[in-house]
Amino acid sequence: MAIKRPEGTKDLLPAEAQFWSQFRQTAFDLFARYGYVPLETPVFEKTELFVRGIGEASDVVGKEMYNAISGGNLAKLVAGEHVRSDSRFSLRPEGTAGVVRAIAQNGLLQEGGAPIKVAYAGPMFRAERPQNGRQRQFNQVGIECLGTDDPSVDAEGIIMLMRFFEAIGIPQDKMTLLVNTLGDESCRPAYREALKNYIVDHSAELCEDCQRRAETNPLRALDCKEEACAHVMAGAPRIEDFLCDACKEHYAQVKSYLDAAGMAYVEDQRLVRGLDYYTRTVFEVQVSVGMDNNQNAIGGGGRYDKLMAEIGGADTPGFGFALGYERCRIALEALGMQMPDPPAPALYIACVDDGQRSLAFQLAQQCRDAGIACEFDHQNRSLKAQFKQADKLKALQVAILGPDEVAAGVVKLRDMASHEEREVSLGEFVTSV
Ligand code: HAM
Repeated sequence: MAIKRPEGTKDLLPAEAQFWSQFRQTAFDLFARYGYVPLETPVFEKTELFVRGIGEASDVVGKEMYNAISGGNLAKLVAGEHVRSDSRFSLRPEGTAGVVRAIAQNGLLQEGGAPIKVAYAGPMFRAERPQNGRQRQFNQVGIECLGTDDPSVDAEGIIMLMRFFEAIGIPQDKMTLLVNTLGDESCRPAYREALKNYIVDHSAELCEDCQRRAETNPLRALDCKEEACAHVMAGAPRIEDFLCDACKEHYAQVKSYLDAAGMAYVEDQRLVRGLDYYTRTVFEVQVSVGMDNNQNAIGGGGRYDKLMAEIGGADTPGFGFALGYERCRIALEALGMQMPDPPAPALYIACVDDGQRSLAFQLAQQCRDAGIACEFDHQNRSLKAQFKQADKLKALQVAILGPDEVAAGVVKLRDMASHEEREVSLGEFVTSV
């Protein structure tokens, strides 16, 4: 049997590949208005980066990473020998850890200088059970802003993301923006402890995962999808009762910027997100079309003021988000969007017989060199079949090369919309198209 692509991956066929390219360009153009410049990082990093950055207790690191060990080290591992941590690699499950590493490693932050704002797009990899809106390789577009903890960065980032979703055609009334704060290292430990105690007290009513989370990651129990857990956790201690003054003030300012911009949002104290690096602001955008509730987040992010220090860089606050291309596409399709047609060539050069093929080849090249998209027959088809192909490609004009025209040093140009024909001299062909 022919080899198929791995489960949970997708081929982006030409129309969709073109749409993806427009999608990311729309994002980059919009984000540039807010000062975000492109940055690219490798699709694999040292495993340690994700373990330290995203958190060992997170599902993403614990269960969903594609890990690899370079070349000869695999034999060592099989033989039970030690393999150094810097020869263990993982396909990136998300972009933030790699971007923060790149900013630290390349010294992009000047001490006392302006914050750095970067945007990225590309494939991410998570070994999840594939379903509608959940893939093992998927594309994200994201931004990160490092070097300031000012709440205006959080608010402008959230607004920018919502503006992007609208720009690609998801109407406001089909989206819900959820916001929350998770506190910081001074107030969260007490909250974590209170949650842990609550989980332990209610452990008989909770799923096994949540029982385990009491020790490893009590906050994650708040967004467990099990109905019984959701019911129990609705009565759990609330972060707002634990926030320190600085976190309270930060959250209030983020909300007041959103209010001033007329941005509608829902405060959701159960929003904790699946990556452990967040401090203070977290947010998520959910869509009401195309996917069921477990996969309906089209984007999300938040603040991570301790991440850079966690991976060995200078103590530097950060904020960012990522959005999922495939989930946006599913939502847009549910809203009736059609994939774009491939761009039509300006010109198709047709030959009456074989005698003009070499001239057609040369003229096509001259057109392309002059910036004109141009196609001609590569299969020795009849003139009728060449016209059919020109029609299929939606070529705007067809040039007809016949023995008489070539002998007279002219070419016939037909406008495919009006069917009008004109004769131009071979010497002026390219400028006449
Ligand atoms: P995330 O919420 O894990 O955040 O992913 C962001 C978006 O990627 C999701 O909202 C979703 O649209 C999409 N996504 C995630 N997993 C899958 C999947 N298996 N299949 C299809 N789409 C998926 C992050 O990745 C953070 N790095 C965001 C961030 C940036 N936080 C701060 N800066």
